[in-house]
Amino acid sequence: MTDTLSLDAFAGILGPKGIATDPDDIAPWLRDWRDHYQGQAAAILSPANVEEVAACVRLAAERGIPLVPQGGNTSMVGGATPPKDGSALILSLRRMNRIRAIDPEANQAVCEAGVILSTLHDAAEAAGRRFPLSLGAKGSATIGGLISTNAGGTQVLRHGTMRGLVEGLEAVLPDGSIYDGLKPLKKDNRGYDLKQLLIGAEGTLGIVTAATLKLVPEIGIGATAWFGLASPHAALRLLRALQARLGPIIEGFEVMAEEPVRYVFDHIPDTRPPITPLAPWNALIEFDLTGFGPDGRERLETLLGEIIADESLGVMDAAVAQNETQARDFWRIRETIPEAERAAGFPIAFDISVPIEDMPDFMIDAAAAATARFPGTTATSYGHLGDGNVHFHVRAPRDVTDRAAWLHSTGEEVRHFVHDLVVAAGGSISAEHGIGQSKRAELGRLASPARIGALRAIKQALDPQGIMNPGKLIPLASEG
Ligand code: FAD
Ligand code: LAC
Ligand code: ZN
Repeated sequence: MTDTLSLDAFAGILGPKGIATDPDDIAPWLRDWRDHYQGQAAAILSPANVEEVAACVRLAAERGIPLVPQGGNTSMVGGATPPKDGSALILSLRRMNRIRAIDPEANQAVCEAGVILSTLHDAAEAAGRRFPLSLGAKGSATIGGLISTNAGGTQVLRHGTMRGLVEGLEAVLPDGSIYDGLKPLKKDNRGYDLKQLLIGAEGTLGIVTAATLKLVPEIGIGATAWFGLASPHAALRLLRALQARLGPIIEGFEVMAEEPVRYVFDHIPDTRPPITPLAPWNALIEFDLTGFGPDGRERLETLLGEIIADESLGVMDAAVAQNETQARDFWRIRETIPEAERAAGFPIAFDISVPIEDMPDFMIDAAAAATARFPGTTATSYGHLGDGNVHFHVRAPRDVTDRAAWLHSTGEEVRHFVHDLVVAAGGSISAEHGIGQSKRAELGRLASPARIGALRAIKQALDPQGIMNPGKLIPLASEG
């Protein structure tokens, strides 16, 4: 536990508004979104600016106190939950929530780390621009957390992950020094790229305090369509057919098996199927038709008619949203799947990628293999097929009454089994959520010695005391 003198020293830097020590105030931030991990911390530090962050990190380095950077605490892998032993303090960026500037001409926004994603969406829209990254946790996830997990979401197909959207970065390194890289330099070859090293580092190499982010023009004429499909193969054929006919105007292409969509109708109020009957597989597609001019929608609808008529594609049904409210309702179904699954009881969740063209086979074959190996289980998937990344979920047999006991006894075997299939397919065991605590041992078991050696060497070089988010991402010595 952190001693009282150290807490007083942090309070001296931050003032009363910048430190919380009341257990009731701290409690909600000690548990992860998936309800797997319970941490302990004597305080939450909430600096108001980069100088306060730097002073806190310097003090933590002097006294060897570990810090856990935290934004919205929506990590799916226990990344922002402090260790159980209470040795660390949480350093929350939530007070640093200013959008410092938006420049529509340059298509850039400068945001502090604690800005919530939907706040940036609204501010960009008010300036006639968009920040083209969105995900279900947009009402809580922060820019610092999104950067630190290199978040993806539903527009990666056209706009890439956070890595491609960060043009400049400000951060505090583990010795308390400030890295001021906010200037958006298009070209900069001064050796290793610290900005890229910090993106996706899950708070293990420093604390992101602000970023210059890329904006794009608003969609003038858009369309949102829901397709019923026979298989994930049909989904990929549909994507390729649309890309061949329309060019790069598809913003997002999300695929969902029937089961997770049904959880939404069961658990999320005011949701209903866009097509009836619901198909075994579904695709939700967002189009940017601006470049086609005023007859863009008509052109799309004609094309969709042709696509549905082409039996070789395997499209069973389609609905184009007739107005913005309907489009939002379609997207709400997709975005609330994680919440609906939480309400239905968490499955064993995999966040995996394989080469895009191999993904439909993988989705079918891995589900068949897992359910054959673990009789009574169900396996299904949804997600970002256009990026070769899906959330593949295995559920305990229905007749298991003590799910927690089943997860405890069989969960690890299931995890090994599916991850081995992913590795055999040349894929990644973490496509977008990161490693955090929940995949650390599996990274150790499966990653090459070259990858693990490099991760450890970089961590050791930048954070020799190991005070930045200990226990996350880097496999322990016993883990590989
Ligand atoms: P936190 O959860 O607070 O932290 C995440 C990690 O980043 C931790 O390791 C933490 O230590 C570190 N961190 C946080 N802030 C900083 C900082 N300022 N400096 C250094 N390190 C920091 N992810 C996707 O990629 N795509 C999705 O589609 C997607 N959908 C989601 C839907 C739901 C409903 C939920 C709950 C999560 C989803 N996620 C998704 C997970 C995603 O990783 C997080 O939503 C988001 O990126 C984390 O932001 P946060 O502010 O909540 O970070
Ligand atoms: C999603 C989260 C789970 O895609 O990444 O909904
Ligand atoms: Zn996702």
